Amino acid sequence: MEPVVFDRIKVSSGMPEMAEYFSLYSAAEWNKGHQLSPDAFYRSLQGSWYMIGVYFEGRLVGFGRIISDGILHAHIVDLMIHPNFQGCGIGSMVLGLLVDQCRRVGIPNIRLFSEKGKTAFFAKNGFKARMSDCSGMEYVLDESNDKPLHDAPNG
Ligand SMILES: CC(C)(COP(=O)(O)OP(=O)(O)OC[C@H]1O[C@@H](n2cnc3c(N)ncnc32)[C@H](O)[C@@H]1OP(=O)(O)O)[C@@H](O)C(=O)NCCC(=O)NCCS
Repeated sequence: MEPVVFDRIKVSSGMPEMAEYFSLYSAAEWNKGHQLSPDAFYRSLQGSWYMIGVYFEGRLVGFGRIISDGILHAHIVDLMIHPNFQGCGIGSMVLGLLVDQCRRVGIPNIRLFSEKGKTAFFAKNGFKARMSDCSGMEYVLDESNDKPLHDAPNG
C-alpha cells in the first residue's frame, strides 16, 4: 500500500529557503500585486515573529507567519497553501500551529484580514468577523480553556 501523505510531510518553524518561498508565493499568485524580487520577499520574512512551513518531500507547499510584539498583538499574514495541496487540511494545520504559539505565550489579540471568499475557512478555524463597524477577523478565545498566560499585575 502507498504510504499515507502525512508520512512525507514535515513541519518547520525555521526560515524556508528563498527560492522555495518565492516559488510558493508565486504559485499563490500573490506576487502579481507586488512584483517584488525573491530577495525582497525573503527580507520581509526576517521581520516575522513566528512562522510555520509545511514541506512535502522537501518542497515548501504551505506557509503562514505572524507579525507580533510578542505580548499583546499578533497579526497572521501570508497564509498560503500550494494550489495542488489545498483542501487536504494543511491550511487548518498551519493556522492552528500559529494560533497555538500565540496562546502558548498568552497573546490575547490574534487577528487577521481575510481575503475575499475565505471567511468561512477562518470561521471553521475559530475566527470570527469583528463587529460590523470594525474590519478584519479575530480568534475567539474560549474563556474556560484559554486563560492568558501572562502574569496579571499583583498576582
Ligand atoms: C485559504 C487556504 C489557506 C485554505 O487552506 P486549505 O489547506 O485549502 O484548507 P483546509 O483543507 O485546511 O480546509 C479546512 C476547512 O475549510 C474549508 N475551506 C477551505 N477553503 C475554503 C474557502 N475558500 N471557502 C470556504 N471554505 C473553505 C474546507 O472545505 C474545510 O472544511 P471541512 O473541514 O468542513 O472539510 C488555501 O486555500 C489557500 O492558500 N488559498 C490561497 C491563498 C489565500 O487566499 N490565503 C488566505 C489569505 S487571508
